[in-house]
Amino acid sequence: MRVAVVGATGMVGTVMLKVLEERNFPVTELIPVASEKSIGKMLSFKGKDFPVVGLSTAVEMKPDIALFSAGGSTSLEWAPKFAEAGITVIDNSSAWRMDATKKLVVPEINAKDLTKEDKIIANPNCSTIQLVMALAPLHQKYKIKRVVISTYQSITGTGVKALQQLENEYSGAKGEMAYPYPIHRNAIPHCDVFQDNGYTKEEMKLVNETQKILDDRTIAVTATAIRIPVVGGHSESVNIEFANDFIENDIRKILSETPGVTVQDNTDTNTYPMPIYAEGKNDVFVGRIRRDHSRQNALNMWIVADNLRKGAATNAVQIGEHLIAENLV
Ligand SMILES: NC(=O)c1ccc[n+]([C@@H]2O[C@H](COP(=O)([O-])OP(=O)(O)OC[C@H]3O[C@@H](n4cnc5c(N)ncnc54)[C@H](OP(=O)(O)O)[C@@H]3O)[C@@H](O)[C@H]2O)c1
Repeated sequence: MRVAVVGATGMVGTVMLKVLEERNFPVTELIPVASEKSIGKMLSFKGKDFPVVGLSTAVEMKPDIALFSAGGSTSLEWAPKFAEAGITVIDNSSAWRMDATKKLVVPEINAKDLTKEDKIIANPNCSTIQLVMALAPLHQKYKIKRVVISTYQSITGTGVKALQQLENEYSGAKGEMAYPYPIHRNAIPHCDVFQDNGYTKEEMKLVNETQKILDDRTIAVTATAIRIPVVGGHSESVNIEFANDFIENDIRKILSETPGVTVQDNTDTNTYPMPIYAEGKNDVFVGRIRRDHSRQNALNMWIVADNLRKGAATNAVQIGEHLIAENLV
């Protein structure tokens, strides 16, 4: 496979290269792509150096697959141009996720829906991916009626600018702000932009994308997304109300048998997921599983994952692996 990584110099792009390498994705030629300012810069992949090229050069080079993580406006403009040239695009931005003609894919849940005709495939939002990984098997068994989520999101979800802001605040240096307030020693209840309904775009992604991926618009979802000064991954406190009753240990069993999910749940040994341990891992970690005694058929749990891995790069590479395995590219 000739593989273009669009946004290769960014936070997600860098992890994308690492994941392609680690998983031994069959790359015969790597085409790293970034903005004008990075053209000519060399990026190392599997011990070889590859020069960064611009978007139009990348289209001319006709890769088989293009993994996009260069922001929504780049995807809106360029993904169709790649697709028209016969290149399959797996897009990490929010540009195509809610487009009814595009599939929103978490391979463990709905990769089976993909066909050769899908030339632009959307990768869901990071906080949605880790959520649905845990919800999907439970929805199948008990039918979810309502989900209430509060997120505690890593600054790596905002890109390199946010990491720089935190480093500047640590060291007392002045610099560009990725957030409207200091992030060091803070919690900012504001991820992405506010919408007319009082929710942020990030919160509405959790609502709309969850319903689309689980293919059930009857699931009621409400979310509050918080940015905290953490780098290893996103954490989520999740309350779920089911149509049917459950046994707590069955929930643990179902989740521990779900590929891509690891249960870390033992209060006797203080075992629960945390971002410092999820960092660099591809799995979604679930713990603090317990019945919500304030409501019938309701459950609380805590979900943590590295947003740059399963929340972005790993999920995109897994989509690519599925396309190759099923001969769809
Ligand atoms: N961070 C996450 O957890 C996460 C998760 C899921 C999805 N995403 C999505 O992934 C995308 C990138 O996020 P990030 O965190 O990696 O951001 P980032 O660190 O700011 O990196 C942005 C990348 O896009 C490139 N780029 C920017 N404008 C471009 C243009 N006009 N043409 C070509 N390349 C351009 C940049 O190249 P230069 O270095 O040359 O500027 C850089 O490689 C965003 O759409 C984001 O929503 C991020």
